[in-house]
Amino acid sequence: MRKAIIAGNWKMNKTPEEAAELVRALVPAVKGAACEVVVCVPSVCFDVVSKAAQGSNIHLGAQNVHFAKNGAYTGELSVEMLKACGVEYVIIGHSERRQYFGEMDATVNLRTLAAVAGGLIPIVCVGEKKEERESGYTDAIVQYQTLMALTGLTPEQVKGIVIAYEPVWAIGTGLTATDEQANETIGVIRKALQRHYGAAVADAVRIQYGGSMKPGNVKGLMAQPEIDGGLIGGASLNAPDFTAVVLFDR
Ligand code: 13P
Repeated sequence: MRKAIIAGNWKMNKTPEEAAELVRALVPAVKGAACEVVVCVPSVCFDVVSKAAQGSNIHLGAQNVHFAKNGAYTGELSVEMLKACGVEYVIIGHSERRQYFGEMDATVNLRTLAAVAGGLIPIVCVGEKKEERESGYTDAIVQYQTLMALTGLTPEQVKGIVIAYEPVWAIGTGLTATDEQANETIGVIRKALQRHYGAAVADAVRIQYGGSMKPGNVKGLMAQPEIDGGLIGGASLNAPDFTAVVLFDR
């Protein structure tokens, strides 16, 4: 059985003060959640969030990581730096990074390899655009993005990663994939893992759905057999909504 994982992706939101306030509200609210709980916060909030979450079941995540150990990479953060701040998870290859910051499958792969080598758990994002779905390319796109991201990992390493299937057309739009659409595409990803890494690996990898997931639709999505959690944008920015998503099984 795979343990569900619900992660908030705060994106470029919250000052440290606002972050501390949100996490202080979440700590008692999500205590005892059956799923793993992660908040992926802006790096300026690592310190306050790790302090506010100390001793709780809320884990700290980042939204990107560089693949070099250190060096002349202005504006970037290394695995070692994130770990020193208490970060355990890192989102890699989010569609917004692909769309606005030139992220490519090759660099998603380098970041994933570096994160795994350094002991961070990557949350690797894949997903098709609207026109790709309409042209019938969804399965090809998500399989390609997934396998490219994982190239060079051992099957044992692949077991530990998290994949987030986020259809680009469902992000921040209020549009959600139907429960069945999300389940079907995640099933396609899992079958690709099975072909390349074997059934034991495919059965172990947790695959989240992301894209306008919120209190009103979390139950239906989480009832699908292939969906192991969620990557939550907008609904992770306030305590009542994120709590309701995390406690989807209540
Ligand atoms: P929304 O939940 O705001 O659609 O964002 C989803 C997302 O991109 C999470 O990474």
